[in-house]
Amino acid sequence: MVSFSVSEKPMQATSLIVNGKAVTISADPDTPLLDVLRNHLGLVGTRFGCGAEQCGSCMVLIDGKPEKSCGKALSTVAGKAVLTIEGMGTPDKPHPLQQAFLDEQAGQCGYCLSGILISAKALLDKNPSPSRREIAAALDDNICRCGSHPRILRAIERAAFSMREGGVR
Ligand code: FES
Ligand code: FES
Repeated sequence: MVSFSVSEKPMQATSLIVNGKAVTISADPDTPLLDVLRNHLGLVGTRFGCGAEQCGSCMVLIDGKPEKSCGKALSTVAGKAVLTIEGMGTPDKPHPLQQAFLDEQAGQCGYCLSGILISAKALLDKNPSPSRREIAAALDDNICRCGSHPRILRAIERAAFSMREGGVR
């Protein structure tokens, strides 16, 4: 168990699981989960975009469901399991989605990609063989301002194939 303390006003201890590790955060219970991840836990792969639940760059899985962390108060995730991009894979052992995004060079600036990868993981976890329409629908809440959508769609199809067949496309 790891404990973190920050100097905000009415502090309260909140315990949750982040990337498989139990953590207790002492902070204002209204603190957005995104701030907790980035500023308290140093998990800066989850990005601040709009801060208004509009862009999806802050997407994480909460108990397996994709959620925008900028709009989630810390108190609402007590006892829940949060997965961030850091929990998906590592440079040495990337998740098949991360590998496929590299293989397809699916991105330009990359700012949106951690949120998109999280949404794509949620999709493939429940639907290993999505159609292109289903992939696009799963990314409805994720904005990519660089217009990398064609390569992003290809990368998700590639990852789905790789995860199903254990092969390379
Ligand atoms: S930063 Fe959360 S949706 Fe844009
Ligand atoms: S790659 Fe730049 S916003 Fe998506």
